[in-house]
Amino acid sequence: MRILVVGGGAREHALSWRLAGEPGVTEVLCAPGNPGIAGMVRTLPVDPGDPGAVLALAEAERIDLTVIGPELPLSRGVADLFAARGLRLFGPTRAAAELETSKVFAKAFMVRHGVPTARYRACATAGDAFATLASGEFGYPVVLKADGLAAGKGVVVAPDRATAEAAVTAAMVDQAYGEAGAALVIEECLVGEEVSYFVVADGVAAVPLVSAQDHKRIFDDDQGPNTGGMGAFAPSPRMEAALEARVLREVVAPVLEGMQAEGRPFRGFLYCGLMLTADGPKVIEFNCRFGDPEAQVVMPLLDEPLSQLLWEAAGGTLASRPGRFRREPHVGVVLAARGYPGDVETGQVITGLDAVARECPDAVVFHAGVTARDGALVTAGGRVLTIVGRGATYPDAIACAYDAVSRVHFDGMQYRRDIGRKAL
Ligand code: AMP
Ligand code: GLY
Repeated sequence: MRILVVGGGAREHALSWRLAGEPGVTEVLCAPGNPGIAGMVRTLPVDPGDPGAVLALAEAERIDLTVIGPELPLSRGVADLFAARGLRLFGPTRAAAELETSKVFAKAFMVRHGVPTARYRACATAGDAFATLASGEFGYPVVLKADGLAAGKGVVVAPDRATAEAAVTAAMVDQAYGEAGAALVIEECLVGEEVSYFVVADGVAAVPLVSAQDHKRIFDDDQGPNTGGMGAFAPSPRMEAALEARVLREVVAPVLEGMQAEGRPFRGFLYCGLMLTADGPKVIEFNCRFGDPEAQVVMPLLDEPLSQLLWEAAGGTLASRPGRFRREPHVGVVLAARGYPGDVETGQVITGLDAVARECPDAVVFHAGVTARDGALVTAGGRVLTIVGRGATYPDAIACAYDAVSRVHFDGMQYRRDIGRKAL
């Protein structure tokens, strides 16, 4: 099987790392990849946001299975294009991807199918949004979400009315998120611990993967603005068997059945962002692809060939069953550039990766915003690296990850010191 992985972040590094060398996999290619991926498999300079270019590459390279990492190509219909050509691709159609790409669609869908989620109102105009806030129906804090894709920055948890109104003005008047903020969801703020739960789905059947917990805020103790994710650990000690059964019954089953019934069967990674509230698990968000940094800690735990799972899901021949996993704790720490999640500086030289490779046999480094320049690796984005440690216990895994982190340096490097602490 020849596999093409589309994307160039640490998630795609983890996917490529996992797929390369599995039984029956003759070659893995990654487009566009990054220097870390290029050290393992062949990479090709294709724009992942251009579905036509991805298709042309898959045809030219006689690819058997294309695996899409990020949401952008899915939102642009890459799965629809491949299906029209009869090529096998793992990832949802544009219509199915709306579970992630339109919060208004996702919320209304959850209500239609009885999936537990925060009470909300969809606001099509700034007037609606101000009126919803004026009614005080959700109290404070209140949560405001841009309808469309906003690179992880479209959600504001507002402690008071002034902050909430400023968020409405930013999204709907000043258009800070462009088209993505043309509509807003305003919803009640849920309280609890957040857990990410993933299934591989073929439209009908699903195989659950191991759960994980992300750390979305930039600073320790969940302070500061939201980011794409500053670190993750897996498995989540909170996801006990009874809770997992409940999530499968109350969330995964009605979503897959509902999407099928509405003529947009969901085929791909279904990422359920859950809040474990006093009233049970509630959905905060769906993503239509694997999480980043969650993939970096879940992929090493998989105890069966990923290629086979994705092949069956992409072909619609999956049988529902539990996934096969090891339970060894894994902790992934994201090293970000100065300024992240705002504007970042790039071009800083990264040192110490050779020391990690030599001295930290239980750590794995996944590259994201990295590029090669004059024989050195330099920073090229907000999230630069994910360093994953493992151990027999969570304290061991945390120590392993931070021991490796301590050997790496670039100017402006910032990271959280508390990744994994919630698992203790
Ligand atoms: P999202 O982009 O939808 O994942 O939202 C980003 C983050 O905002 C989530 O990971 C939560 O930490 C927080 N969040 C979103 N919705 C809610 C909610 N209804 N109640 C409390 N926190 C929320
Ligand atoms: N880590 C959150 C996400 O991938 O959306």
